Amino acid sequence: MGGINIRDLRSDLSFGSVVEGINWDTLADEGVREQLRELFKARGMIVFKDVEPSAKMQVAVSKVFGPLKDHPTKTTPRDKETGEEAAGVIDMHYVPSADNLKAGEGLVEFEGQVLARFSPWHFDHCYNDELNYAGVLRSPINAPEGGRTGFMDGIELYRQFPKALRDRIEGSNVIYTLDTRLSRMKYGINFKPLTEHSTTPQLLKEAAIFPRAMHPAVWQRETGEKVMHYSPWMAVGLEHHEDPEGDKLLDEVALEINRRGKGSSAYWHDWSPTDLVIWDNHRMLHAVEGCDAKYERQTLRTTIKGDYNLGYFEDGKKIGEVHREVA
Ligand SMILES: [Fe+2]
Repeated sequence: MGGINIRDLRSDLSFGSVVEGINWDTLADEGVREQLRELFKARGMIVFKDVEPSAKMQVAVSKVFGPLKDHPTKTTPRDKETGEEAAGVIDMHYVPSADNLKAGEGLVEFEGQVLARFSPWHFDHCYNDELNYAGVLRSPINAPEGGRTGFMDGIELYRQFPKALRDRIEGSNVIYTLDTRLSRMKYGINFKPLTEHSTTPQLLKEAAIFPRAMHPAVWQRETGEKVMHYSPWMAVGLEHHEDPEGDKLLDEVALEINRRGKGSSAYWHDWSPTDLVIWDNHRMLHAVEGCDAKYERQTLRTTIKGDYNLGYFEDGKKIGEVHREVA
C-alpha cells in the first residue's frame, strides 16, 4: 500500500512538516488520517505538496482534522466547483482593474514598496470570543513575486522571547476589535497605510456594535507547552491596563514579533497551485507580505471548528456565530 511521506518543513525549525503522497487512496486510509492528526498536533502546521488542486480535495483533506465551520456571512463567495460539498470553502479572488484600485485595495507602503494584500501578524477570529481550530489554504493564482504567507509558532515564540518582556505580558489578556483598518492599528506599526480596504463602510457598521473580545497573550496547552499568542493587528489594549503603560507593553511585544517574523523564527510560504497548507489557529501566528496591486491573486480557505475556550466578550455575552472575514 502506498503511504505518505513526511519530512520537516525546515531543519532549523521546531514546527511544521511537509507531507507528500496525499491522494484519494491515501486519504481513505484511517491509519494515514490518524497519522496526519497526530503530526498536526505535534508540529502546528503541515504543507501538503502536489495535491489535486480542487475544492473537493481541499474539503476532503480539511475534514481529516475536524468538522468544517461554514462562513456565517451569506454574501461571502463560495467556490462553485463542488456545490454542496464546498459549503465551507471561501473564495478570496482579487482581479486587478482600474476600478478596484480606485476603490482601494488596502494599499500600504512597506520598506519602500507599495503593496496590496498586506496583512500584519495575527491569528484568525481574534475579534471574536470563539476561535477556529485550524485554517486550510491554497492559492491557485498567485503573484509572480511577493504574496507569500508567513507563519510563526507560538510555542517556539514563547521559548525564544526575551524573558523580561515575556514576563511582563504573561498572565494578561489582550483586547481585540473587529475594526480591521490598518490605519487604526496601534501596535508594532512598520508600514504606512495609503488607502483603506473597499469593504470598510460595511465592516465599520458592524464593528460599531460588536463587543470587544479578550484573549490571553500566553496560554498553556493540555500537553504542557506555553503558547505566545498575541495578534498585533486588531489589538486595542491590555485588559485592566488601558493606559500608556499597557499600550507601551503591547507595542514592545508587537515590535519583537515583527523582528522575529523577519528572521529565522518564521517560515514564509511561497505558493505553488498544488500546495495545501493547514495551520493551528490556537498556536500559530500568520501574516501576508503583500504583492504589487497589478497582480491577480486567488486564495481559497476552509476553516475547521474547535475552540480553546479562553476567549470572551467584554460584556460577558455570548454572541455565537458572528464572524467576519478579515484575512
Ligand atoms: Fe488570517
